[in-house]
Amino acid sequence: MLGIETSCDETSAAVVADGQSVRSLVTYSQIAIHQAFGGVVPEVASRQHVAVITRTVEQALTEANVQLSQLDGIAVTCGPGLLGALLVGLSAAKGYALVSGLPFFPVHHIAGHVAAAGLEAQWRPPMLCLVVSGGHTELLVVDENFRFQRLGGTVDDAAGEAYDKVARLCGLNYPGGPEIDKLAAQGNPDALDLPRSFLDSEELSFSFSGLKSAVANRLEKARRNHEYLPVEDICASFQQAVLDVLVTKTSQAAKKTGLRRIVVAGGVAANRGLRQAMAQLACRADLEIFFPNPVYCTDNGAMIAAAGSHMMKAGRHGTLDVNAYANLSFAEWQNLTS
Ligand code: KG4
Ligand code: ZN
Repeated sequence: MLGIETSCDETSAAVVADGQSVRSLVTYSQIAIHQAFGGVVPEVASRQHVAVITRTVEQALTEANVQLSQLDGIAVTCGPGLLGALLVGLSAAKGYALVSGLPFFPVHHIAGHVAAAGLEAQWRPPMLCLVVSGGHTELLVVDENFRFQRLGGTVDDAAGEAYDKVARLCGLNYPGGPEIDKLAAQGNPDALDLPRSFLDSEELSFSFSGLKSAVANRLEKARRNHEYLPVEDICASFQQAVLDVLVTKTSQAAKKTGLRRIVVAGGVAANRGLRQAMAQLACRADLEIFFPNPVYCTDNGAMIAAAGSHMMKAGRHGTLDVNAYANLSFAEWQNLTS
């Protein structure tokens, strides 16, 4: 399966066998370009995708040593994401599908993140999924037919977005997650008293914008009082607040659904603190927790190819009239295929 991903700031293509074995993965990251702006600029992202998409796909095919005609299908992210960026990958995929006559699989970006857990590992649905990325924080259930049910999610900012915003407040580089991850390991998680939304509620919801504002207010107060706050302590305290919420909500969702196998996916799943905290939860609550290899946590074509394979196995094909969708619910996505 060829997988193509262009929903945000990575142009990526991969060839994956059986939803599991990565034969090639080529990613052109635009991070360096967007760093100058402190975040992703949509129009710049689209133009950059156009510049490298063909090269990326051709290189993925070459590295996997396959011709287009030897593939079983073509999978591509059709949403959610930046509309202009999505359109580039989608149009390229449609072109390849049209000339080759291969089956076409439009993939939901979040379903791709979840499928990353099956790369170079065993794929074992039904599973509970916590997806934490720059655009999403969601609790889901994936079944044997690669169908998704949403249990809950963020009511405002995504976890990764909060990482990026807090990093910016601290004067760190974009994307902020990896920077905060590193510094947090050297700081005191109890140094700042920060809020943990919905922690005492049974509701499977998240909110991170209040946490970001609390960090901003605390930094402002320190500035006014000429108080020195080590950046390591800010990062450690912020990260601890995020982790407490993610772990508690995942534990509540496991209890509610009775599911014992859990996938943690998305860019923030690369976080070392989150991996540790979830491993502790697994021990405490007798759960099996799977993390994709960190290489496959951030946006990439391999996870999209894997998702396409799961769709093919479930007999869910798409047609070439599928559009790109900035917003796309799982129900809407599932209606795109038959
Ligand atoms: O999944 P992804 O590549 O793109 C989206 O679909 O959003 O996730 C990117 C997000 C960014 O917000 C980035 O700061 C965050 O994932 N991230 C991390 C880490 N690595 C990436 N957050 C926390 N710790 C990390 N190690
Ligand atoms: Zn993503």
